[in-house]
Amino acid sequence: MGKTFIGPLTFDSISPNSGLEKALCLSPEKVISTIEDAKLRGRGGAGFPTAIKLRSTAREVRDTKYVICNADEGEPGTFKDRVLLSNYTSLILEGMTICAYATGAKKGVIYLRGEYSYLKDKLTEKIRIHKEKELAGSCEFEIEIFMGAGAYICGEETALIESMEGARGEPRDRPPFPFSNGYLGYPTIIDNVETFAWIAAIMDKGAEAFNSVGTADSRGPKIVSVSGDCECPGVFEFPYGTTIQTVLETAKAINPKAVQVGGASGRCLDSTQFSRTISHEDVPTSGAIIILGQDRDMLKVVKNFLEFFADESCGQCTPCREGTRVLLEGVNMMLAGSCSNEYLNELIGLSETMQVASKCGLGQSAPNAFLSVIEAFKNEILGRTQRVEGEWHD
Ligand SMILES: Cc1cc2nc3c(=O)[nH]c(=O)nc-3n(C[C@H](O)[C@H](O)[C@H](O)COP(=O)(O)O)c2cc1C
Ligand code: SF4
Repeated sequence: MGKTFIGPLTFDSISPNSGLEKALCLSPEKVISTIEDAKLRGRGGAGFPTAIKLRSTAREVRDTKYVICNADEGEPGTFKDRVLLSNYTSLILEGMTICAYATGAKKGVIYLRGEYSYLKDKLTEKIRIHKEKELAGSCEFEIEIFMGAGAYICGEETALIESMEGARGEPRDRPPFPFSNGYLGYPTIIDNVETFAWIAAIMDKGAEAFNSVGTADSRGPKIVSVSGDCECPGVFEFPYGTTIQTVLETAKAINPKAVQVGGASGRCLDSTQFSRTISHEDVPTSGAIIILGQDRDMLKVVKNFLEFFADESCGQCTPCREGTRVLLEGVNMMLAGSCSNEYLNELIGLSETMQVASKCGLGQSAPNAFLSVIEAFKNEILGRTQRVEGEWHD
């Protein structure tokens, strides 16, 4: 693998403190309506409108509220938050402080991925400097760091709260949602690292500058981590609506076989689909694009992702706990040439059940790679299954 590049990011053009300074001249409601006008959607995966969460938290009448920065970044293939935390720390702290001002929160927490512990001292120092600034001080907003312990499920917002409270990292039933009943039962806004950085950027550059790029339902730019079989892996900013082909050209990927968009929980596209776009309407991504070269065995790729999910499933619900294991077993049978077409159809049915019956996003998205590889590389896969009885049905 070559050097990891960081492309030019909009954040480079933002003067420190500028977004926060402008936000504090507005009313909290005007801050929220600016983010609403920008049509900002969360950058952590689900793409929920950020202003709705902010307004819901602001409306809660409680003395204590929290702003949590989700820096758990556990999706295989995602490393854009690491770059943002390392190179644009003050923008993230500004974004959190703007949200605190907008919602009336006085306490903030950065939930830092266990494997990023080497960033903790630098972040602590940046928080100290941020607090000393007169502007940040006027919000009386305190930010601390909570270290994650390396479980992928703890990136899910309610599992994250459980782990902060000292319990097992398992997703909660929703409702209630964190905006009314979050950390320690208090109203809590949880956003992705990148979302906070965009909040600061929007307050500085204005809603229009942000929403003038993108597609109808996906406004603004997206920061993406590109890795895999290419000459120029790295972190780049693309407007939503950018084609996969453009991403491949930027990363200097020569004649790739497939692209996994959205990390392990995302979808696999073959070369006939490279004109598709990164967007909530077409191919969504929390920020991971993994390029797969011609010599990749797609079944081994799927096996790798399923091993991850079988390992990381919290085990709370049966479709995910058992489904990830059974799918992995099925892929191993395919690799050994002992899976029938009929059983493959059963695995497809199981995947569809997992998508609808699993309790949280982990189990719901765990079969995505399997299903999309089966669809895109049907001939390659069918050549490795046994035609015992029953035909493949689409
Ligand atoms: C299994 C799982 C892991 C997740 N991991 C992360 C993560 O590492 N970082 C993140 O921001 N969101 C993650 N999410 C999404 C969060 O639950 C939540 O939607 C997000 O933090 C909200 O922030 P946003 O609105 O800014 O996107 C994960 C979700 C699931 C189901
Ligand atoms: S889907 Fe998986 S990770 Fe989510 S609650 Fe169920 S077992 Fe746990």
